[in-house]
Amino acid sequence: MSFYMVARRISHHAWNECMKEGGTLKRALCSVSSINCETRSQASMAKPVSIEVWNPNGKYRVISTKPMPGTRWIRLLTDQDCRVEICTQKKTILSVEDILALIGDKCDGVIGQLTEDWGEVLFSGLSRAGGRAFSNMAVGYNNVDVNAANKYGVAVGNTPGVLTETTAELAASLSLSASRRIVEADEFMRAGLYDGWLPHLFVGNLLKGQTVGVIGAGRIGSAYARMMIEGFKMNLIYYDLYQATRLEKFVTAYGEFLKSSGEQPVTWKRAATMEEVLREADLISLHPVLDKTTYHLINKERLSIMKKEAILVNCSRGPVVDEVALVEHLKENPMFRVGLDVFEDEPYMKPGLADMKNAIVVPHIASASKWTREGMATLAALNVLGKIKGYPVWSDPNRVEPFLNENSPPPAASPSIVNAKALGLTASKL
Ligand code: DGY
Repeated sequence: MSFYMVARRISHHAWNECMKEGGTLKRALCSVSSINCETRSQASMAKPVSIEVWNPNGKYRVISTKPMPGTRWIRLLTDQDCRVEICTQKKTILSVEDILALIGDKCDGVIGQLTEDWGEVLFSGLSRAGGRAFSNMAVGYNNVDVNAANKYGVAVGNTPGVLTETTAELAASLSLSASRRIVEADEFMRAGLYDGWLPHLFVGNLLKGQTVGVIGAGRIGSAYARMMIEGFKMNLIYYDLYQATRLEKFVTAYGEFLKSSGEQPVTWKRAATMEEVLREADLISLHPVLDKTTYHLINKERLSIMKKEAILVNCSRGPVVDEVALVEHLKENPMFRVGLDVFEDEPYMKPGLADMKNAIVVPHIASASKWTREGMATLAALNVLGKIKGYPVWSDPNRVEPFLNENSPPPAASPSIVNAKALGLTASKL
């Protein structure tokens, strides 16, 4: 049995005692502040498990594998009789063993992160502990084996609807930073190398009138396209299995508006193949989901058909791009630039990528605006709470505003459960 298992057994025993006697846990294990937040660690052990406990006497035990932004999500849970345990362990990526230890032998639900491997082992562990609810604090759930969750009857939540604009804004930021070589220029300044204006200094690409290519024109891809079209008057070419009707209508209307103002209208085209986008676009942003069909979607061959001075942006998932092939392409084509938020083997980069001046790399921060991250935490908590309380599942997971309004109680529903159908969960009539 691992240290963590031992630690959790001890703490569960203490917790059970606390449940029986009320407050024993505080005296036995915790340092307690005057508000209902406790911090517990097994100080006598070699490797303490640090946990912050809210509402120790709550009936339902909900674990968050990470501290999450904001406090509303905690309040929403504690108001509904949940004891909330937040793992504060200083370890960025928790292992399956770490999480099993956190779950222990009684747990009603877990809020987890996209860095964790939620498969057979964790879902069977959660189910053994009596839990039937899990939510990723992310819209993507490629870290979750949904079939395994189905097998154990565990609902799997995610957080769509709240990160669309924030993620699109990061893709737009990377597009601008890459086209105008902002990071290289910043490093140059800080290194004290600027000794006067020069005609050739950090010359980049003008976006206005160029073509933006979007691969995957769903919610985020469409929001990004609109930003680049509205903001920089780029023309659009997109590839998606589904027609992006609203986006097409928007570009048509905006083009007509520009024309009526005496300006060059913007245009759109739905490409028949992805290759068409890669060949024609000056700036390409990737927005597909990661699955077997999109793994290494951008490979050596496809990179080779892109314009030599094109810009590629990826805020979707790292394995969508063959990163080894990308590094080679960047070496051979110094005018080709990339902006990457995600990496094939996070948190690592493939050898050579960090040395490339024509690459901008940021650590998976596309959804990292305060409003979005607090909203994601709220939605993840409400997914878990909804399942624990037996609420129905919200009918439109992209229309989540009612859950995010701080001035009114959220609807009695789980905002987004991806396996609702498989588990036969009822849909909300609201
Ligand atoms: C998600 O939610 O899937 C994002 O990648 C997090 O930023």
